[in-house]
Amino acid sequence: MKPMQILAFIIVLIVGVGLGRGCGNTPTHKPEAAPAAKGTVAVPTTTQASKSIDAMRRGADLKSEPESLPLARVENTDIRRERAYPMQPPTIPHAIDGYQVDQHANRCMLCHGQANSAQFQAPPVSVTHYMDRDSQVLAEISPRRYFCVQCHVVQTDAQPLIANDFTGADAILAAAPETAKE
Ligand code: HEC
Ligand code: HEC
Repeated sequence: MKPMQILAFIIVLIVGVGLGRGCGNTPTHKPEAAPAAKGTVAVPTTTQASKSIDAMRRGADLKSEPESLPLARVENTDIRRERAYPMQPPTIPHAIDGYQVDQHANRCMLCHGQANSAQFQAPPVSVTHYMDRDSQVLAEISPRRYFCVQCHVVQTDAQPLIANDFTGADAILAAAPETAKE
């Protein structure tokens, strides 16, 4: 064989092997990969995570026990996140550690009730929180809305564990063609 033919053969071989790796059931996780330094666990991108057997295992094979992710930090910054659609319960922009919500007391309503919202500068709960199931507006927080964390969650710095292509209502409207908006 001439040197040029040998070179072409080698290139075809390398490209072929490269393409072969790109498809099929080749696991994305390499067992021989060096373990991450203690305390720092690599979070896969959402596309990587969606390809593994169980995205919650973050690509680790079944025989190994991956180190747990550090607990997510609760943001206590008073910075509100955007709402994705009008009836989304807003996320809580402050920590809620130790706030008692039970039969005897509702700590959240201390600040979020109508009466004290001026003192604490907290947005009062909206009128839906006073409605019973027949849409009658009650004088006190409705039992259906008493346990706030059923619907509202604190904001954390946790990364998504599984792929998610959720799109908010405003983004969908902005992307819709003009005719569809009318
Ligand atoms: C000490 C007063 C206080 C208490 C107690 C409190 N909050 Fe708040 N909350 C605030 C203030 C003030 C804000 C406005 C944003 C900020 O400054 O953090 C707020 C903001 C919020 C928001 C965002 C509202 C929006 O329109 O985006 C939610 C949701 C919320 N709180 C839920 C709760 C829940 C649930 C509890 C109980 C577990 C609770 N809060 C307890 C003071 C309080
Ligand atoms: C069953 C679900 C549910 C429960 C329980 C609930 N909320 Fe909400 N909350 C919502 C939804 C949905 C919205 C946004 C639409 C609306 O205002 O009804 C909201 C809005 C809010 C807002 C923003 C109000 C505004 O005018 O923008 C605050 C503050 C709030 N909730 C606090 C609370 C507190 C405090 C509690 C507990 C006493 C509570 N929520 C219980 C679903 C809930």
